[in-house]
Order: sequence, then C-alpha cells, then structure tokens
Amino acid sequence: MQIEQPFELVLFGGLGDLALRKLLPSLYLLELDHRLPEGNIIAIGRSEVEHKQVVKKIKKAVFTQINSAFQCDKSWQRLAQRLHYVAVDGQRSKDYQKLATILQNDCQNRLFYFATASFLYAEIAQNLHKSKLINRHTKVVLEKPIGHDLASAKAINSAVAEYFEECQIYRIDHYLGKETVQNLMVLRFANSIFESQWNQQYIDHIQITISESLGVEQRAGFYEQVGAFRDMVQNHLLQLLCIVAMEPPAKMESDAVRDEKVKVIKALKPIEGSDIHDNVIRGQYSEGVSEGAIVPGYRDETGVDDQSDTETFVAMKVEIENWRWAGVPFYLRTGKRLAERACEIVVQFKKIPHSIFSMQHKEPMANKLIFRLQPDEGIRLQLCEKKVGSGMQVRPMTLSLNPDAAEQKKATGSAFENNQEKPTATNSAEDRVPEAYERLLFDALASNPTLFLRDDELMHAWDWVDSILAEWKETDDSPEPYTAGSWGPAAATLLMAKDGRLWNDNNER
Ligand code: BG6
Repeated sequence: MQIEQPFELVLFGGLGDLALRKLLPSLYLLELDHRLPEGNIIAIGRSEVEHKQVVKKIKKAVFTQINSAFQCDKSWQRLAQRLHYVAVDGQRSKDYQKLATILQNDCQNRLFYFATASFLYAEIAQNLHKSKLINRHTKVVLEKPIGHDLASAKAINSAVAEYFEECQIYRIDHYLGKETVQNLMVLRFANSIFESQWNQQYIDHIQITISESLGVEQRAGFYEQVGAFRDMVQNHLLQLLCIVAMEPPAKMESDAVRDEKVKVIKALKPIEGSDIHDNVIRGQYSEGVSEGAIVPGYRDETGVDDQSDTETFVAMKVEIENWRWAGVPFYLRTGKRLAERACEIVVQFKKIPHSIFSMQHKEPMANKLIFRLQPDEGIRLQLCEKKVGSGMQVRPMTLSLNPDAAEQKKATGSAFENNQEKPTATNSAEDRVPEAYERLLFDALASNPTLFLRDDELMHAWDWVDSILAEWKETDDSPEPYTAGSWGPAAATLLMAKDGRLWNDNNER
C-alpha cells in the first residue's frame, strides 16, 4: 500500500495535547522509516506563533516521546522541512483564507485531521467547504469521542456528511492500530486451532482491562465533560470486544470487517434499569500512592470541580446475544490512577470436566489465552504440564508468542510484508513495534479505511451506551471512591466474585 504524493496533512489542534504526544511523534517515526513520500504537514492552532517557535516546540515534544535509540537528527530535519504552521480559529471563516494560500489547488491527497473537541467538527467542515478546500479526493479523520451521546453524535455526523462522503470520513480509534490487536485477528483467522474453541462451548468468560497509572494530567477540562465511560468504554473497550467476538469476515477488507463488528455491537444485550446498578460499576480515585509518590484525589486535581461526580473508573459485565457467545460474560474494566499501566484481553477457557492427575492447586486449572497490548506486547497461552520428577504432578506453564519485531526479523528475514515499504534507517520499524497512530496515519494517508469506524458502527455503539448514561444522569449516586494506586473500587472485585471469578490482577502477567 502506498501514499499518493504529494500529500497534504492538515492537523486541526496541531499544537494540542494529542498532536504533541501522539500524532507528531508518529509522523516523525514514519519519516524515520522513509515511509512518507513528498508532502506537507500543516499544523493549525488558534494563536499566532512564529514558525521557529513552533518547530522548536514540536521537536521538543517529539524527542520527549521517542526512545533515544530512534532519535535521528537527519530524520527530524526532513520532517521539519515539511512542517508549516497557520493560526486559524476554527470558528472564524475568514481565517481559512490563510490556510488556502498554503494548500495546492489540485492536491489529490489532502487529509484533514480534526484533533479538537468534537462540537467544533461541524463548523470546521463547513468553513473548509466555504473556502473551497474540500474536493472529492479530500479525506477527514475524526478523533473520538464523537459527540457525548447518540443525539449529539448523529448531529455531528450528519453535519460532517454534508461536505464529505462516507468513504472520505475516517473515524479513528487508535486501539485498532495497536500491534497486538491486529495480531489477535491473525491469530484467530489464520489458524484453525483457536477458532474451533472460540465459542460458548469452550470459553468460560473473557475479560478486557485497560488500566492507566496516570491521573487526569493536564486534561481536566476535557475529562470533566467526558469521564471514563465516554473516553474509554464507548470506543476503545467496545472495539476490542468486537475484534475478540466478531465472526470471521469474508475478506480483510474494510466493509467486510466493519460489517462483522456492527453485528457484535447490535447483539450486545441492553443494560437498562436496575441491571445497570448490578452490572456497571463507576469509581473515582481519591488520594493515594502511585508509582511511589503521593498523588491527589480526582476532586483535588487542578481544573476539577471539588464536588465532581465524573467517573474515572468503570467496570462492567456485558453479554452478547448470539449463538457463539450466549452465556459467556465479557467483563470490561478501565480506570485512571490504577495500580499499573496495562492493557490485556484474557480469554479464559472452561475447566476440564474431570481431572485424573494430582494438581498443585486443588481445583483443575483452566487454560487462558492472554493478549497483552501494553506494555511489553505479547500473547501467552497458559497450559498444564507434568512436573519433572517421579509421580504425575501437574503444574501450570506458559507458552509465549512474542511479536517483538527484531526477533521476527531474525526468524523470517523481514517484518514487512512488502519490500517496497522497507525502511532504510538503521533503527527502523523493523526493530520496534510500530505505534498505533503511526499505523493509522499511514493508512489514512494511503486511503485504507479498514481500521477506522463506519457511521453505523459508531451510532450503534452510542445507542447501546445511551441507556446507561441516561440512567446515571437521573440518579444522585456518586461514583464509588477508590484509592489511587489500587485496582479500583471493591464493587469491581465483587462484580466478578459474585460469579465465582477473579480479575487477572497481580498474577499470571
Ligand atoms: C485516549 C484517552 O483515547 O486513550 C486517554 O482519551 C487515554 O484518556 C488514552 O489516556 C490511552 O491510550 P494509550 O494508547 O496510552 O493506552
């Protein structure tokens, strides 16, 4: 797959948190690997800032994020040469003339990236249209969360759709760009051994955790409006659930994959009324110790209301009403200021019906397939083996499937499927696991929408979460407090314990 050149990438929110922490470092990594053809990157911010200052700020941000082994001045110089900055207030139409002067009239590969609050998307799209900056080749990436409920998501979607066709819209969820998520699809659909077991007959339950050790950081303004449910559950957790639960798509093509994901979302059992209280736990962190330092509670963070009821933690039990998954609970969990930063999917198989061996543990052990997305990406399968020595003692053992790129290179000659894309830098993508945004920015520039969300997928996801959000709005309940640095409120442990199950914490990592 190639990026058509010359390209123009215009980043709204170009000096914002996401651009500086993720988007620009990822563009630098693409540059490092010589994967960007001729083209320009135009960062848009509201304030007038000198070009020199902008470049300095971006370089600092990029090199703060990138491992020193991949910091290369030559690559940076190449990126800096294509960087431009234009001050545009997204809501002021006359500002767009400044942007127009820097863009080529006949560009066949122009990509706008909206990394701003989503209530601005409609106005930005309208102003781009008025300034004649959209043609039939123009694409737009929309950051999540798009809207704050079904009604607002619909409104934003239809406003953007006035100026862009569906095939020009790329709704991003960066979790789909993570290496292990793609490996999960390969593992499921390129091997027959797992797929035959991948159903309610063999699987006891599935748990998906995205835990963060950081707090709300500098994003209180955004987070107060959004909370963990809209920030992480409605998008990242539901997308991971779709990839785990979907039927095999007929082809690895955008609509085939997205059709299957939509079917999963549509089959989610609605959680309504008193079921919400029993199946969805909200928490908020209070003061505690995180990574060796005392940290304030959420309500004491700068920019947070001291009476805030915004949830920083959610755990929930979800069911999928179809033949494959009937009766298999999916436990989802996410939170800030938890014990560690981790993201993993645990597929817990059923126990053997009867054990003929003496086990180390009294209970027969169940097999687990663990997909670790971060840190230290990898896939592990927990099995039982014989303990060496006399007798027939059985003990757990772990098989590791490591996607480490350098190891794969040694084993196969190249981690790249297509030699034309092969980078020439010494420390290149062949020696590291690519960043999620790096992969997705490349795909959007190369017009490959497979890993982006279609409109119906987004709407069904909002539809499903709306009843929960509406119920929370109605009740006076506050989120349950949990100590920063812990694994969340006690109710989250109870959510699984009452089903006789445990979160995969502190062990088996
Ligand atoms: C973002 C959320 O989408 O994902 C952030 O807005 C969160 O609140 C981040 O911290 C987590 O992403 P990652 O890739 O660091 O796990």
